[in-house]
Amino acid sequence: MAFEKQLNADNALENYVYLDVLHRLREQSSRWPAVQGRVLDVGCKSFYYAAALAAAFKPAQLMGLELEGHRRYRDGHRRSDYAAFYSGQISGTRYHVGDVCDWRDKADLVSCWYPFVFAEVALAWGLPLSAFAPQRFFPALASAIAPGGLLLVVNQGLAEWQQTAHWLGEQRLRSVARVVVDMPLLPRPAPPVASLWQA
Ligand SMILES: C[S@@+](CC[C@H](N)C(=O)[O-])C[C@H]1O[C@@H](n2cnc3c(N)ncnc32)[C@H](O)[C@@H]1O
Repeated sequence: MAFEKQLNADNALENYVYLDVLHRLREQSSRWPAVQGRVLDVGCKSFYYAAALAAAFKPAQLMGLELEGHRRYRDGHRRSDYAAFYSGQISGTRYHVGDVCDWRDKADLVSCWYPFVFAEVALAWGLPLSAFAPQRFFPALASAIAPGGLLLVVNQGLAEWQQTAHWLGEQRLRSVARVVVDMPLLPRPAPPVASLWQA
């Protein structure tokens, strides 16, 4: 990949970081999504890492879904404005502002990077408490998976992964691969834990 050909240096680096996590997970996994599938990324913020998902999965359709897509940055632009730029670079890619709990389409791969697992983290992020609903969020992730499809989750640290595993277990999802990224390309508050799940 040469993300820096289309993206600025900071954003290109972010995409390498995400691609590196996916690469490490793939090395641990005997299953991987087929190319040309439908990928849904839940909670994608401005979808600044759409290029990494496109590079890793080569999907026919790539959808970024974000609850707070209208949130405005200091520069006056909204997340959805940035998302229009990022998704506009990749054919078959779209961005939708909405709640996964209302989402009805299915995807061959549902991905979710750093979901809110603990209320204090969601509050620190600026999400209202009413929007922190893991008892609805994780079942919604599970029900968006098409038959035979996969769910990819990346958590911040083992405690968040453990709690996520508990909720996904309740949805009868089975973990097929997991990797702890001890040395990500950029430092994070806790080592990313990437996991792949199937029904
Ligand atoms: C910690 S952020 C992670 C953002 C992004 N995935 C990343 O890797 O930078 C979690 C995101 O999930 C979004 N979110 C939370 N609940 C959601 C829901 N029910 N449906 C869609 N997005 C949601 C939040 O608005 C936030 O942008």
